[in-house]
Amino acid sequence: ADVSVVVVGSCMTDLVSQAARLPKAGETIHGHKFFIGFGGKGANQCVQAARMGAKTAMVCKVGRDVFGNDYIQNFKNNGISTAYVEQTENAATGAASIIVNDTGENAIVIVAGANMLLGQEELQRAQSAIVNAKVLVCQLEINPDASLQALRMAKENHVKTIFNPAPAIADLHSDFYKATDVFCCNESEAELLTGLPVTSVEDASRVGLELLRRGCGSVIVTLGPQGCVVCESTNTAPKHIPTTAVTAADTTGAGDSFIGAVAFYMAQYPTMPLEEMARRANLVAAVSVQTVGTQTSFPLQKDLPTELF
Ligand code: RIB
Ligand code: NA
Repeated sequence: ADVSVVVVGSCMTDLVSQAARLPKAGETIHGHKFFIGFGGKGANQCVQAARMGAKTAMVCKVGRDVFGNDYIQNFKNNGISTAYVEQTENAATGAASIIVNDTGENAIVIVAGANMLLGQEELQRAQSAIVNAKVLVCQLEINPDASLQALRMAKENHVKTIFNPAPAIADLHSDFYKATDVFCCNESEAELLTGLPVTSVEDASRVGLELLRRGCGSVIVTLGPQGCVVCESTNTAPKHIPTTAVTAADTTGAGDSFIGAVAFYMAQYPTMPLEEMARRANLVAAVSVQTVGTQTSFPLQKDLPTELF
């Protein structure tokens, strides 16, 4: 059978330090734990969709180095097709330096490396997988031109598209909106894209409508512990979808868990209302924040309540 979810996006090796708080500029502080994990928004989203049961493929580029080799094995361990995972001699596998504080918040610097070398040729090689997928997912940790090209390729072939404008850029090309069915961002990304502050559900509804006006099919603004707001072009009123209260150990990748879950639902249950997909995806992401780590905290289908399927 064809792959149902294709992610064109990033892979990063996450170098994670846990500390009581985030350091200030020029400051050195002691942390209490260090670990290396598999991350990158694209790969994280693909892993969550795969763990929920979607047949997935990743289109990405890693270095011809230890981190790249390990990453390919990680995809295989998660049942993700590596047919379109390429290795390059010309750059190192992407890396993310992450600090997580005691309340589960983080600060991240990424060096995208090999991710930036994913381009037109690689997309051509993956074309049949992209145009035959049910859902394509893109972010902004690769060259934005490559993301836009992938979204257009999918959209022209009636493949549903999810776009996560992360990390956000203020001058996002207007065609991203037109090529996107579900535009999914968090508060800070929404602020950067619109110039409007987002500190409440009301703000999220306002920015959601503004982003919708730019031409996408629907918008989801995620709000961490407050769940998310869903705006659809077929429905005038934004809808707040609250989530369950949990104690956060590490929120890194929670948005990726959410998006991976939405991708799974769109592929598996194409007629399910987007609000219901968002409600369920909130619960999947809530599981992920309760454990330290990114992909290591993403639940499998067997770990989730059957009502979510
Ligand atoms: O969204 C979380 C991810 O952002 C991390 O895994 C890190 O790699 C950065 O890309
Ligand atoms: Na986590």
